[in-house]
Amino acid sequence: MSGLFVTFEGGEGGGKTTQLKLTEAWLRSLDYPVTTTREPGGTELGQKIRALLLQGGEVSNRAELLLLMADRAHHVETCIQPHLDRGFIVLCDRYYDSTIAYQGYGRGMDLDAIARINGIATNGLQPDVTLWLDLEVSVGLARAKQVSGNPDRMERLDLEFHQRVVRGFRELAMREGDRIVRVDGSQSSEAVQAEIQTILKPYLK
Ligand code: TMP
Repeated sequence: MSGLFVTFEGGEGGGKTTQLKLTEAWLRSLDYPVTTTREPGGTELGQKIRALLLQGGEVSNRAELLLLMADRAHHVETCIQPHLDRGFIVLCDRYYDSTIAYQGYGRGMDLDAIARINGIATNGLQPDVTLWLDLEVSVGLARAKQVSGNPDRMERLDLEFHQRVVRGFRELAMREGDRIVRVDGSQSSEAVQAEIQTILKPYLK
């Protein structure tokens, strides 16, 4: 029995985390077995990697990429895949599209190299559906900084970096339209959730 793998993606402050929680509550109310997780930081090891990446000191671009991949490899192997094998719906806050957008488009790292390392980290596991919460960059960044109070290593990067990231998500969504669905993150939280439920319904067994 294989479950359903749903990822939530987007730039900073797009409302992914709120929507993931609302989606979890909705699926639980329908009695689906569901688990929520995130990258980086979905496992005990991952939490340490997340702290190094977001709250630590200097991390070179290649080290950043490989730390994210170590997080992902462990996460897929010990959390995501086992839950899918048991028939769970897995809701994941960020996955490999974030690496393409942030390290590829944002940092300007080689996209082919990222794809190859991603293949190793994910062991080929792809999301069944990806919800891309799209929001104007400056609005999202302001929102993210307001929520966290203390901006992390990525949130501190300049507007141009975050604009490249969002361009990455846009290009990914154009290329992989069968999997990635754009959701307008500027709507009210209720409207976004209603749209997400409409998108997910056909995937529910
Ligand atoms: P968030 O989970 O609070 O959105 O923060 C995670 C941060 O890590 C966010 O700034 C995006 C960044 N990130 C990458 O740069 N590459 C990745 O592959 C992932 C999963 C996250």
